[in-house]
Amino acid sequence: MTQSDCAQAASVFDRLSQSYDRFNENPQVRRFRDAIYKMIDPWLSPDASVLDFGCGPGSDFPFWLDRGLSVDAYDISPQMVDVAKSKLPVDCKINVRLGSLDELEGPYDVILANFGVWNALPSDLDVHQQMRQHLNPGGVLIVVVMPPLHLMSAFSQLLSGDWSALWRRLHHREAVTSDGWLFSYVSRSSFAPSWQVIDSRSLGPLLSTPAQSERFLMARFWNALIRPLDRLVSRVCWFGGDHLVLVLKNPN
Ligand SMILES: C[S@@+](CC[C@H](N)C(=O)[O-])C[C@H]1O[C@@H](n2cnc3c(N)ncnc32)[C@H](O)[C@@H]1O
Repeated sequence: MTQSDCAQAASVFDRLSQSYDRFNENPQVRRFRDAIYKMIDPWLSPDASVLDFGCGPGSDFPFWLDRGLSVDAYDISPQMVDVAKSKLPVDCKINVRLGSLDELEGPYDVILANFGVWNALPSDLDVHQQMRQHLNPGGVLIVVVMPPLHLMSAFSQLLSGDWSALWRRLHHREAVTSDGWLFSYVSRSSFAPSWQVIDSRSLGPLLSTPAQSERFLMARFWNALIRPLDRLVSRVCWFGGDHLVLVLKNPN
């Protein structure tokens, strides 16, 4: 990972650090996190060592604190790290550190890269290799990624005439933010052959995005209507969703 990749990601997420908790309060995001926690729980023994990689403002700290686990939490954004640290109770077992792959210690039993951290990483094999080095034998890497295809995002880009962004997302699997930062969309195939997928679930394959549901009454209505079907589809819909949860093991 180059210095400039890291510096650009850090400055983008520095700017989001004060508003990120508003996103976390979105009811749909909360439901997504609950579904993610159900998939993590089976891997958490009471003495499990955990890495929360790209912890952001400590979005998952309530979950770790509730489980009483020892957690190393890293983030590349100094301001995200400040917000995360400000949430920690005294004498807890969560260590928050400013840093990225090169600074990791470990190894760990469970590594979580939640809500799009992997989309912000450079897409070369070195990232996979580095992550595998920090995993104990039998340990799992749990990634929650934004995949190229999400039906309601594609539908809204089609309707708004934003076809070049849609093509870029589906075909080139990338997008550029308004401040010029390039990030990638990540699918299940991005993890082969470095990882073996042992569990997966799509989050909201048929739902609108949390941002759409916040802005539009129609999106909230659609979500309420379609949620029972969405729950059924989420286990078998392998290709996408608002996010995609993958539980991965080192195949060697
Ligand atoms: C979309 S946020 C997700 C935050 C948190 N995991 C959550 O579930 O809300 C992505 C986070 O990854 C961090 N990040 C991006 N690139 C990183 C890198 N190379 N190393 C460590 N953290 C990184 C960002 O600073 C940001 O806080």
